[in-house]
Amino acid sequence: GMARKFVVGGNWKMNGNKKQIDEILGFLKTGPLNADTEVIVGVPAVYLDYVKCNAPPNVEVAAQNCYKAEKGAFTGEISPMMLKDIGVCWVILGHSERRQIFGESDELIAEKVAFALENGLKVIACIGETLNEREAGKTEEVVFRQTQAIADKIKDWTNVVIAYEPVWAIGTGKTATPEQAQDVHKALRCYISEKISPNVAESVRIQYGGSVTAANCKDLGAKPDIDGFLVGGASLKPEFVQIVNARQ
Ligand code: G3P
Repeated sequence: GMARKFVVGGNWKMNGNKKQIDEILGFLKTGPLNADTEVIVGVPAVYLDYVKCNAPPNVEVAAQNCYKAEKGAFTGEISPMMLKDIGVCWVILGHSERRQIFGESDELIAEKVAFALENGLKVIACIGETLNEREAGKTEEVVFRQTQAIADKIKDWTNVVIAYEPVWAIGTGKTATPEQAQDVHKALRCYISEKISPNVAESVRIQYGGSVTAANCKDLGAKPDIDGFLVGGASLKPEFVQIVNARQ
């Protein structure tokens, strides 16, 4: 799919302070970042406004979570409207850390995705199997189930990017091989074609996430169904620029 614009996200997770963020913004400004790649940084909530005000114009900003209500008695949460109010257009939802550490279900994540989209945000929706699930041969079953939960609640996939992040590859240094990742991306696209629509399957971008580095990004990015990356640890370092430029 040459029609799908390559999209690379940096998920900073719960990392960074103003000094480190200034350094990150420094290497993003210096780049140069391939203009054919969409670049999004996923920022801790407390720094979103700062990064939105200080990031170069070719770098978009994402929250790492948001709730499924406009406002109200939801202590500790932030809403899509608050994000839009400070000019943040993207949110990462359903990250495996949200699922595993904070107990978010497929259904809650799907509700959050639907609410964010209805309120004008673009969404990076994360899916992926654990090591146990992979070893039990359940990879496809799991990623199809997680995708279907979202499909049950949304109609328009235009503003959705799917991030396939095998949990065993996250922060472990164990990257999926390009073939392993491509197999899942392709199977998922077939599933989407059958269960959602061929148009969505052709147009939706599927990122790979899990121990992506400057060293492995070119081989991963050369696969036809890998449309970008969601990068954790390496997004805090200057090598993120090389990952953005993987297809150059
Ligand atoms: O969301 C990105 C992430 O989970 C991958 O993290 O550190 O393995 O690149 P990392």
